[in-house]
Amino acid sequence: MSNRTFTMIKPDATSKGHTGAILDQMIKAGFSVKAMKWIQLSEAQAGAFYAVHKERPFYGELVEFMCSGPIVAAILEKENAVADFRTLIGATNFKDAAEGTIRKKYATSIGENAVHGSDSDENAKIEADFFFSGLERF
Ligand code: CMP
Repeated sequence: MSNRTFTMIKPDATSKGHTGAILDQMIKAGFSVKAMKWIQLSEAQAGAFYAVHKERPFYGELVEFMCSGPIVAAILEKENAVADFRTLIGATNFKDAAEGTIRKKYATSIGENAVHGSDSDENAKIEADFFFSGLERF
């Protein structure tokens, strides 16, 4: 997975019609799509995906938000994928994100921050495996 990362376009961005523009920015930045699905998570699924944040004060709000509408989940490939993708999306808090980054352009709060990007190769594999079987990726 070292040249792959995992992303989600979150419900705030899909509901505002930003999915196409966000995917276009990812592809133009050199990422190729190795798996993709458009789905709405159940509360249990969103809770399981973000279980690592279970003890954080924002966990309930995060889970409620992530199952409030459809998301696009994808595996992306590029050399140095995890680090380069985090540069492309910008800081978790869009107020700290660099100009031109996806979160700077589309996020509206620290929670409703338009996209998710894996923070390590190890988590990219865990997160990709959460969403995609072997048959669903290439
Ligand atoms: P993400 O990169 O998907 O990883 C964890 C998510 O938790 C993060 O993006 C935000 O959506 C959310 N999050 C992180 N910090 C906060 C916070 N302080 N308040 C609300 N949501 C947060």
